[in-house]
Amino acid sequence: MQTLRLLPDSPGLARAARLLAEGQCVAIPTETVYGLAADARNGEAVARIYQAKGRPSFNPLIVHVADLAAAEALGQFDAQARLLADRFWPGALTLILPLQADSGIASLVTAGLQTIGLRVPAHSAAQALLRTSGAPLAAPSANASGRISPTSADHVLAADGGLRGRIAAVLDAGPCPVGVESTIVGWPDGRPALLRPGGIAAEAIESVLGQPLAAHHADPSAPSAPGQLTSHYAPKAPLRLNAEPQAGETHLTFGQPGPFSLSDSGDLAQAAARLFDLLRRADETGRPISVAPIPEHGLGAAINDRLRRAAAPRN
Ligand code: TXA
Ligand code: MG
Repeated sequence: MQTLRLLPDSPGLARAARLLAEGQCVAIPTETVYGLAADARNGEAVARIYQAKGRPSFNPLIVHVADLAAAEALGQFDAQARLLADRFWPGALTLILPLQADSGIASLVTAGLQTIGLRVPAHSAAQALLRTSGAPLAAPSANASGRISPTSADHVLAADGGLRGRIAAVLDAGPCPVGVESTIVGWPDGRPALLRPGGIAAEAIESVLGQPLAAHHADPSAPSAPGQLTSHYAPKAPLRLNAEPQAGETHLTFGQPGPFSLSDSGDLAQAAARLFDLLRRADETGRPISVAPIPEHGLGAAINDRLRRAAAPRN
């Protein structure tokens, strides 16, 4: 695929919005770093983010919206969350909030969680694209997995660690003014906690809240041993991998039709897009779950990583 370099003028923004509407990935400038954006309501488009990055596991992604009203359609704000949004949005702050029931957000975006990471970026080109496209945009940093976050369109297109040829376009608005990722605040046990330090100082957040932020023990993006990623959705039922179907089980098929088919045709992007929904629906049957073998290449590595975590012993 040839990666277009688009300018943030009206033809460039219109083109970027059209590509996003078609389910393509577009790298976009924000004030922190360039993000690799896809329509957060389209599971297969979101799967393409992971495909392009070569990311070996599914972390929940931040959803970018134009303003607080758009954010309120996706996440539930309490008084503290509203205080932070009023003070720091648009800006380099991500809030992890309970997901609205009818959000329409693809389950791959939240990795099956009942929370959502939301941010209103301050960058004028990001704002213009969000308004032109009208879509909530899921976007991790626009680098190949394990590489440094890009703070310019040239970084996004770099021969080494970049995404040239792997994404439809990059919207080039020059260097990012902040240059580090957003600060992430959540309420994992009811109290406000710093989940990732970033572009807005923790002290500034604490002074608005009038209370200290709890230090969270781990960066949610840090690699974690199987089963330790407690924030991820895990089924209640036991799970067998690389399995032939057995009587009394709910069996997830791959490359074969069935009531719990990850992909009839063996398409890994489709399987990724369906994974968390299917795990939830399978769990609702109350039977043990088994999953057909998934190839370990491409998105299959991320799917298998997630399945191994889901199958690991619970604490
Ligand atoms: O500045 C930024 O935040 C950039 C720009 C593009 O906005 N984005 C970014 O995304 O850094 P990413 O994917 O590299 O980091 C997202 C972080 C991950 O550590 C993820 O675990 C956490 O946000 N996150 C997102 N949604 C979450 C949720 N529902 N619960 C817990 N953590 C969440
Ligand atoms: Mg990143």
